[in-house]
Amino acid sequence: MINRYESILAYIKKNLSKKRRKHSIHVSILAESLCKRYDIEPGKGLVTGISHDIAREFDKDKMVEYAKKDGNPLYPWEEKHPILLHGRAGAEYIKERWDITDPWILDAIRFHTYGKPGMGILAKILFIADYLEPGRNFLEEKEREEILDLRIDAIMLYVLKGKFAYLKKKGREILQTSLLLYKELANKTGEINEKKNIG
Ligand SMILES: [Fe+2]
Ligand SMILES: [Fe+2]
Repeated sequence: MINRYESILAYIKKNLSKKRRKHSIHVSILAESLCKRYDIEPGKGLVTGISHDIAREFDKDKMVEYAKKDGNPLYPWEEKHPILLHGRAGAEYIKERWDITDPWILDAIRFHTYGKPGMGILAKILFIADYLEPGRNFLEEKEREEILDLRIDAIMLYVLKGKFAYLKKKGREILQTSLLLYKELANKTGEINEKKNIG
C-alpha cells in the first residue's frame, strides 16, 4: 500500500495545482491518523486521502469518460454539475492506473463529496478528513480538534450540516443521497431530525 501511496503522491505533485496538492496531502495525513484511531490499516487512509481528488482537475470529457467506467449512468444532478463526477472518475482512474481494487477505498473516493447511506468506516473517515483537514480555515484549531474528538457519526453530522449550509448559501440543491445519509446518522445518534435544521 505504501509503494502505491508514494507513486500516487508523485503523480499528485506533478499533475495537480498547488492548492489541491496541499489539500490532498493534508487529507491523507488526517485520514491516516483517523484510521489508527478506528483500527483500520493506516496505509489505506493515506492512499484514500492522497487520491480522493485525483480527477478533480480532469477536463469534463475525461471526467465523464472515467466516471462511466463504473457501469452506472450519469445521473441528472451529475449532468447539471459534472464536477460531482470527480469522485467516481477518481476511483476508476486509480483502479486503472495503480491497480487499486479495495472496494472500501474505491467507494470512499466515489462518495466523498455528497455521501450515501450505509457508508463504511473508511468512507466516513475520508468524508470527515476532506472537510476538516487543517488547511480549511473556517475553523479555529481548537474547535477543529474538539470536533475531531467526537464520535464518528457526530462528526459526520457536523460535516453534513456544514455542507448543507454552504449549498443553501449558494442556492444549490441538497442531493437526496446526502439527505438520506443525514437521516440515517441522525436516527443512529438519537438526534431529532428537524427538517428546518437541514433544509
Ligand atoms: Fe473532492
Ligand atoms: Fe477534497
